[in-house]
Amino acid sequence: MVRETGLSVDDLIWPLFIVDGENQRETVISMPGVERLSLDLVVQAAGEAKTLGIPAIAVFPNTDPALKTSDAKEALNPDNLVCRTVRAIKDTHGDELGVICDVALDPYNADGHDGLVRNGKILNDETVELLCQQAVVQARAGCDVVAPSDMMDGRVKAVREALDAEGFQNVQIMSYAAKYASGFYGPFRDAVGSGGVLKGDKKTYQMDPANSDEAMREVALDVAEGADMVMVKPGLPYLDIVHRIKDAFAMPTYAYQVSGEYAMIQAAAANGWLDRDAAMMESLLAFKRAGADGVFTYFAPEAAKKLNA
Ligand code: PBG
Repeated sequence: MVRETGLSVDDLIWPLFIVDGENQRETVISMPGVERLSLDLVVQAAGEAKTLGIPAIAVFPNTDPALKTSDAKEALNPDNLVCRTVRAIKDTHGDELGVICDVALDPYNADGHDGLVRNGKILNDETVELLCQQAVVQARAGCDVVAPSDMMDGRVKAVREALDAEGFQNVQIMSYAAKYASGFYGPFRDAVGSGGVLKGDKKTYQMDPANSDEAMREVALDVAEGADMVMVKPGLPYLDIVHRIKDAFAMPTYAYQVSGEYAMIQAAAANGWLDRDAAMMESLLAFKRAGADGVFTYFAPEAAKKLNA
C-alpha cells in the first residue's frame, strides 16, 4: 500500500541486433545472453515480444563491412537490412508491436561515426540531410518511431519536416536528447561491428559526463524542434538527468540501460557475485522511480517473463 512506483511489462523496450542471412544466430561475446539474429529470427523474436506484452522493439543492424563507406550511403538504401527487417516484422505482426529505428550513420560509416567525417571533422549540416533521408526510408519501411541517436544539431526539426513532407505525420520522433560520450557503449559497438572501425571518439557531438545543465538545454532544443519523446543514455549512471528532465519538461522520457550496464550485471552474475534477477529487476525499477516512462533494456524478455509470472 505504500509502494510509490512500479515496473510493468509495458515499460520495456527490447533492442535487437540484426545480421544478414537466414536462421543465423551469432553470440555477442561482450553481451552474454544477447545474440545477433537474422531477419527471420528477428521476426520470431518480435512475435515473442508481442506475446510477452512488450510494446515495442528497437532494431540495430550489424552491417556487412563491405557496405560501409565514407558517405554511409547504405543508410539510404530502402532495401538495407533494417528496412527489410522492419517490413517483414510489420507484414507478420502488424501494428500490435511498435518498431523503433535508430537514425544515425554509424552502422554504415566506414569510420564508425554517427556523422559524416571530412578531414577529421564531423560535418553537422551535411549529416542532417542524410539523416532526414534515412528517417524517410525507415518510415516508408513501416517503422512507428524514428530515434535520432546521432546528436547532430538541428536534426529533430529537419527530420520532422522531412517526414511530414512525405506524409509520415504519424511517425513519431524519439530524440536521444541527452546522450553522453560514454564508456558503457563498448559492447554495443561489438554487437553492431562499429567498434573496430571507429576512429577516435564521439566527444565532439556526445555530451560530457560532467554536465547536467547542458542536458536540459539539449532537451529544450529537441522539444522545441518537435521531438515527441526524449531519451537519456546511458541509464543508471544518469538517473539524476532522467529525473531533472522529467520534472522540468513533463515529456515522455525514456532511458536506455545500455550494453555496458547489461554486461556488468551479466558478468557479475556469471561469476556468482550478484543475484542476476534481483539486480536486473532492481535496476529496472530504479528507472521508474527516477521518473522514466520506459526503459530500453536487453533484459526486456527476461524481465517481462518475471513480471508476467
Ligand atoms: C549509435 C548508438 C549507440 C548506442 C545506440 N545507438 C552507440 C554509440 O553512440 O556509439 C548504444 C547502445 C548501447 O550501448 O547499448 N548511434
